[in-house]
Amino acid sequence: MMNDQLRAALRQMPKAELHIHIEGSLEPELIFALAERNGVALAYPSVEALRAAYAFTDLQSFLDIYYAGASVLLKEQDFYDMTAAYLRRAEADNVRHTEIFFDPQTHTARGVPMQTVIDGIYRACQDSPVSATLILSFLRHLSEEDAFATLEAALPFRDKFIGIGLDSSEVGNPPEKFARVFARCRELGFHLVAHAGEEGPPAYIETALDVLHVERIDHGVRCLEDAALTARLAREQVALTVCPLSNVKLCVFDRMEQHNMVQLLDAGLMATINSDDPAYFGGYMNANFEATFEALPLGLSHAQRLARNSFAAAFLPADVKQRYLDEVDAFFAQL
Ligand code: ADE
Ligand code: ZN
Repeated sequence: MMNDQLRAALRQMPKAELHIHIEGSLEPELIFALAERNGVALAYPSVEALRAAYAFTDLQSFLDIYYAGASVLLKEQDFYDMTAAYLRRAEADNVRHTEIFFDPQTHTARGVPMQTVIDGIYRACQDSPVSATLILSFLRHLSEEDAFATLEAALPFRDKFIGIGLDSSEVGNPPEKFARVFARCRELGFHLVAHAGEEGPPAYIETALDVLHVERIDHGVRCLEDAALTARLAREQVALTVCPLSNVKLCVFDRMEQHNMVQLLDAGLMATINSDDPAYFGGYMNANFEATFEALPLGLSHAQRLARNSFAAAFLPADVKQRYLDEVDAFFAQL
């Protein structure tokens, strides 16, 4: 059980979010509002019926519904409204900085222009008091050729995103499938990240690092199955953007009490807490912190460490990062 001081600290502490899919912030109410605005037919009769379908057995069972939900996004204003709603929730959770994934292929495959996607999301970031940057994510169930075409289409807008990620169906789509396109993105100077070790084996974490040269691992919770890999991640302080509510909802762990966050921290890893797809998994940043701390033997010192990690692992200039770290330390010093 968590005491009131810890709960208040988790809510109020300054934090960064490093693993949020903007399409996964689309709440059922907004899905229905956009469907009506755009004349898009949905397979569910009501908000309640849609929400009731959020009972996932694995990553793929979630992705099927997540891609269906994103089908209501057509106009620049739709992307703006979705992003603005997420940023308001982030601000309420005392998120100071967020690095937002977007999946352009989910939209361009439906005929939505790349510019519509990027301009809408980017404009909402500009209008928010929360510091926000964008990471373009390739869908790994599609081909590397498709990823190259997506990169090409996005390059006219390259000043609007800072990094490249890799998401969607992990097992059977290892990082090395995208070796050439990530090499190109590296030459172009983008920050690189990849989902690995969520459902996939520790070997995918290794190839994400050694073949794709990513700077952070998204999820990465299966690293603990490989002691040598765990030691390396600790030694190199590779950040893991862990998403506890997601992990439970997608049955990576049966219950939050079984989540390995304590073991990750005890192993000296640079773990962070993030929301992944908050509209689908039961909550935004503070809900993730509270559920994790409620279920596991974690206290104020862990909260401070996780808040520090979130800024330390962010793609921010060193002086900006230091200011946020000082803000975290000042917050915990006055408790
Ligand atoms: N796309 C959105 N959320 C995802 C997740 N948790 N894993 C892989 N791809 C995703
Ligand atoms: Zn994710």
